[in-house]
This record gives sequence, C-alpha cells and structure tokens, in this order.
Amino acid sequence: MINLAPVIAIDGPSGAGKGTVSQLLADKLGWHLLDSGALYRLLALAVSHHDMSIDDHDMLRILAEHLDIQFLQDAEGRLDIILEGEVVTQAIRTEEVGNQASILAAIPAVREGLLLRQRAFAQEPGLIADGRDMGTVVFPDATVKVFLTASAEERARRRFLQLQDKGEGVNLQDLVDSIKERDERDANRAIAPLVPAIEAIVIDSTSTPVDQVVDMILAEVTRKGVA
Ligand code: DC
Repeated sequence: MINLAPVIAIDGPSGAGKGTVSQLLADKLGWHLLDSGALYRLLALAVSHHDMSIDDHDMLRILAEHLDIQFLQDAEGRLDIILEGEVVTQAIRTEEVGNQASILAAIPAVREGLLLRQRAFAQEPGLIADGRDMGTVVFPDATVKVFLTASAEERARRRFLQLQDKGEGVNLQDLVDSIKERDERDANRAIAPLVPAIEAIVIDSTSTPVDQVVDMILAEVTRKGVA
C-alpha cells in the first residue's frame, strides 16, 4: 500500500498522551490529524442511539462504512465533532463510551468498515495518525512510527485529574482497574491488537514531559527528511 501523503503513526494505550502529542505535532507541522479512537467512540455512540445489537456484524460494518460524521473547526480553532447532525464532542469522551468502543473495536467487521475511512485522512501536506494500529495495519507505509506508552498507574492518575477538572468524582483505583482491563482487551484481541510496529520508536512518557516527547518525534521526522 502506498500512502498518498507522509504519515506519522502514533500508537499506544489510552492515557499515554497520544492525543496531546498528536495535536502538538499537527500544529507544529501544519499537518492533518486523525483521532482514530474518536471514530470507534462515534460508532459506539451511534450503536447506542440506534439501539442496535452488537451481534449483527453485517449491520455494524454498514454503519461503520456510512456513519454520518463531521469534524468541524470553529473560528477559535476548537474542534466540534458531529454525529448525525448532533454535536457529540463531549459525549464521546465518557468512560462508558470508551469501554463500548473498545468492545466494538475487537469485531473484525467494525475494523474493516472503518479502514478506508481512516486511510482517506492521508492528505497533503501530511497526516498525524493517532490510534492503536496506525503503524501496523492502517498505514503500514507510515514514514515515522511511534509507540507511546506510560505505566497504567500514571495513565490512571492523568485521567483522574482530567475527570476531576470536569467535576466528575471517580475513584483512582477503579480507574487503574478499568485502564488495565481495557489494555488487556486491546492488546489481546485477535484482530489488529495493540502492539508496537516492528520499526516503531518506543517512547515511555511516564516521566518524560510532553514537549520532550514531541521534540524526540520531530527529531525523527527531520532525520527521515519528511518535513
Ligand atoms: O484512543 P481512545 O481511548 O479514544 O479509543 C477508544 C477505543 O477504541 C480503545 O479502547 C480501542 C479502540 N481503538 C482501536 O481499537 N483502534 C484504534 N486505532 C483506535 C481506537
């Protein structure tokens, strides 16, 4: 498969900092951004809105292929995510939707249904692709592949602070348990499991500040001569 535009694939477990790092890279390079987790979350929300059974894989594939979604940037540069005409930017970020997305993501028909939609994001001048299988399945020819990780405890601590900020009270140990459960499911599924691509540079963000992570990736981008 040949990418139409250069791609930087950023894979790793939830809470490793992929979203922040990917957004900073996209801003610095002026490249497009694919938040592939958002697609799985949007599908999970649509399945719940339509009260669909997750056992009907043919219907799930059709829904994944035709899901009516828009990513719109407002005047201040904020991103609005629209599902079937409704703004769901916040609604897709709950723990419940994340868990449902992880369950749907283990179904081959769902991954197949979303595959070409994800590849379509690879447009000039380039794409930062954030997910679990960006470097292994969706963009195997990506120019730079990164596997960004952090300890489960640190990822739970970050999520805890985020939820506290939003005024949502949660128990830290419950978050650690839920993160470990989601990791286990994402890493052990039969299709496109969460594993580093062979050529990936592995970065542990447990005690590395986000700016330093971005600089490490930019150094690799420069070394490859892509930007
Ligand atoms: O990155 P996230 O937490 O928004 O992703 C939600 C779920 O979607 C995650 O638990 C696994 C799944 N996912 C996936 O299987 N493959 C991707 N490329 C992105 C997300």
